[in-house]
Amino acid sequence: MPAPTSLELAEYAARRARLIEAIGEDGVAIIPSAHEVIRNRDSHYRFRQDSDFLYLSGFHEPDSLIVLAPGRKEGPFSLFVRPRDAAREIWDGRRAGPEGAVSQYGADQAFVIGEFEGQLAKLLSGRSRVFYTFGEHPEWDPKIAACVREIREISRRGAAAPTDFVALETTLHEQRLIKSEAELSLLRKACDVSAAAHVRAMQATKPGSWEWQVAAEIHHEFERNGMECGYGSIVGGGDNACILHYKENESQLRNGDLLLIDAGGEYRGYTADITRTFPVGGSYSGAQKDVYEVVLAAQLAAIAELQPGNSSARPHEVATRVLTEGMVALGLLKGDPEELIKTEKHKQFYMHGTGHWLGLDVHDVGRYKLDGKPRPFVAGMVMTVEPGLYIAPGTPGVDPRFHGIGIRIEDDVLVGADGPDVLTHGVPKTVAGVEAVMRG
Ligand code: GLY
Ligand code: MN
Ligand code: MN
Repeated sequence: MPAPTSLELAEYAARRARLIEAIGEDGVAIIPSAHEVIRNRDSHYRFRQDSDFLYLSGFHEPDSLIVLAPGRKEGPFSLFVRPRDAAREIWDGRRAGPEGAVSQYGADQAFVIGEFEGQLAKLLSGRSRVFYTFGEHPEWDPKIAACVREIREISRRGAAAPTDFVALETTLHEQRLIKSEAELSLLRKACDVSAAAHVRAMQATKPGSWEWQVAAEIHHEFERNGMECGYGSIVGGGDNACILHYKENESQLRNGDLLLIDAGGEYRGYTADITRTFPVGGSYSGAQKDVYEVVLAAQLAAIAELQPGNSSARPHEVATRVLTEGMVALGLLKGDPEELIKTEKHKQFYMHGTGHWLGLDVHDVGRYKLDGKPRPFVAGMVMTVEPGLYIAPGTPGVDPRFHGIGIRIEDDVLVGADGPDVLTHGVPKTVAGVEAVMRG
């Protein structure tokens, strides 16, 4: 039977091999899966696998555990999974069981999850370092701690007990930060479909539409391509665009208002993250256009910074400078842009960062600083670039024509060996480009 994973088994094996190298022969890594979460009474939220777990195994079931123990004669990769259960499988769906964990997912050995505590002593014994993130998995923390205690007891009689507990994140998340070609092909698909979804939303939006109806257009495009939302969609018309994490999506759209949509589809675990802001009636007003052009200029300048070797802090520095100069030119702020940035006056209208890593998580893993300094970009990193300006309704001292304008433009950009590669190029963002799409 072919593996039901999103990528070739060899890709997961290569990822584990890299982690195993970092763990060393005296270490062992324990990575729990996600578990199902109740939505209400006996209904669950749709299950989403833990991203670290998915990255290392491609295994989609809850209540499972990966143990990587280098140097074992059986092989390093143990998978603990739910047992096969004919009755439960009729009600809840298929399970791979230990046999499937080996034959379909390439585990060197597999056990039912109930055997974890019994096997753990064997897996930990003789190893000094345990890579496990305490505090994140309340159901496993006490079991692992109890096992270590037990080994310590025995160790008084000779066996070596673990002495170092290391959070797994640093090593694994640095690995996840650089995307392979196989990962990029999934991310490109997520970005292409998400771009098409934004185009569909632009074409479907009319004065009188409701925000939730436009959200449905986006979600339809995701789902008909085998995707789901990578995060909660923001569909905010008029003043709602000035609420950064607006998620009610409950208002009616009026001619003359802008609509800000921040939505990205997830394809086989990898999510896009796109924002566009377009006029409900099909044409930007003068004031809207003035603000929009500033945000677009900031975004283009920031994108140009995603070059290997550049500091990863550059996009935010550049975007902040262009936005602040624009705010002064528009009369939103008064003074010297450099001084305004130094005293953080720009934060009245631009209060968030310019981007984040993107991948299996929308705010993906990986450090932003190394030794306290912003790290340089390396080919294979993917970052969002998402400057915005938000002028809350009724802001004193600001020309009323700008009141209630909230604009963000967000693309997903691969740091390519030859420079920035905008993965979300499929949805227009110039004033003329957006207005042309809306005309149909
Ligand atoms: N959609 C979440 C973000 O843009 O960071
Ligand atoms: Mn984002
Ligand atoms: Mn976003």
